[in-house]
Amino acid sequence: MSNHLEPKNSGDSDDSLKVTAATKREFPDPVEENHPLPPYVLILVGAVLSFGLVYFQMYQDGANAGSKGSGAASIEQAPAEQTVAELGKSIYANCQPCHQASGLGIAGQFPTLVGSEWVSGSEKRLIAILLKGLSGPIKVNGVTYNGAMPGWEKVLSNKKIAAVLTYVRSSWGNAYPEITEDKIAAVKAEYAAKADAWSEADLLAIPENATITVAAAPAAGSAPTGAAVDLEAGKAQYQGICIACHQPTGLGLFPVFPPLVNSDYVKGNPERMIAIVLNGVIGPITVDGKSYTNMMPAQGAVLTDVKISQVTSYVRKTFGDGASPITPEQVAEARKKYGTRPASWTEAELLAFPAAN
Ligand code: HEC
Ligand code: HEC
Repeated sequence: MSNHLEPKNSGDSDDSLKVTAATKREFPDPVEENHPLPPYVLILVGAVLSFGLVYFQMYQDGANAGSKGSGAASIEQAPAEQTVAELGKSIYANCQPCHQASGLGIAGQFPTLVGSEWVSGSEKRLIAILLKGLSGPIKVNGVTYNGAMPGWEKVLSNKKIAAVLTYVRSSWGNAYPEITEDKIAAVKAEYAAKADAWSEADLLAIPENATITVAAAPAAGSAPTGAAVDLEAGKAQYQGICIACHQPTGLGLFPVFPPLVNSDYVKGNPERMIAIVLNGVIGPITVDGKSYTNMMPAQGAVLTDVKISQVTSYVRKTFGDGASPITPEQVAEARKKYGTRPASWTEAELLAFPAAN
């Protein structure tokens, strides 16, 4: 027995071949194969990453909006977005060659921005100057200059013009209120037809105390269809909750999160849409021709009727081809029927609802 396994004569090639053959039969050599990372692993990693990013972004926005300064200090270090002051300062690099870092300009050539009545006075005139530029004699702080300044409306966005003006109005001892982006937009619209730079006389023809009528924010939502549902609030709900999975675009993330765009569940029967948000969904579901097998957490315990009406109305309007808003009463009604349901919906159950209303 024992010597059966022992190699016999090292010189005996026949025997050694036999042993090898026998061994091979019993333990087949492992084969080297190439297994690429399965695609779903990559997609899952991507989904988790983008969830993280979105979550971080939301947290950061919330923190910045909530507490200006103090509490958000550590988060503000993230390079995500400059403050208006930082942006304004960096845009001022465009102005500095002429108006100088001190804002004092150069005597006889470039007028001062410090204590200038054009900077401190009428916002409308100041914005007008920045948009179109200026040429010919102009008196600044009692001194007359006769040069030319280029217009910036084709070079700088409204946001950047607002930021640089805000910077100029709050630097070097200037202490005048901020100028907002929507005011730039309003003045730009008013003078859209004007092609040349201002003269001093043109500017003085703009009343010193002219008010700038800013277009109403497109939000409102109360006007045409929307009864009294607050779509802005709905948008905030969406950005606080649904966006992490259904994405800012509402297109979801195949094959993990289904889209809200082109979805009959969104634009169809309002009661079914409410039911989905109340109780969640589980198992395979086909949306816009593609199949998903995942689960959506129920929101019924977290969101009030009013909030569900807001978020569903926002989603239907934005991603559902402008489908009708959903009222808090409709949500209350659905909650009475389904609120106590312990389980999430399956596709079969959802399809049993009438498709439209
Ligand atoms: C190429 C040089 C140049 C640049 C760059 C320039 N300016 Fe001017 N700016 C002038 C001159 C010259 C005048 C006076 C024009 C005149 O005499 O008609 C002027 C006038 C002004 C005035 C009105 C007079 C005053 O001093 O209050 C303001 C405000 C102003 N500039 C702001 C800016 C801002 C903000 C920027 C950057 C976005 C900028 N300028 C960039 C040359 C420049
Ligand atoms: C944690 C991730 C997640 C969140 C948060 C989430 N959903 Fe979903 N949602 C899903 C998943 C996953 C499905 C599909 C479930 C399945 O595969 O059975 C789904 C399905 C849906 C559907 C039906 C299918 C479709 O795409 O039209 C609607 C409508 C919907 N969600 C709306 C919302 C709304 C509105 C919110 C916010 C209040 C929200 N969801 C929050 C993950 C989420």
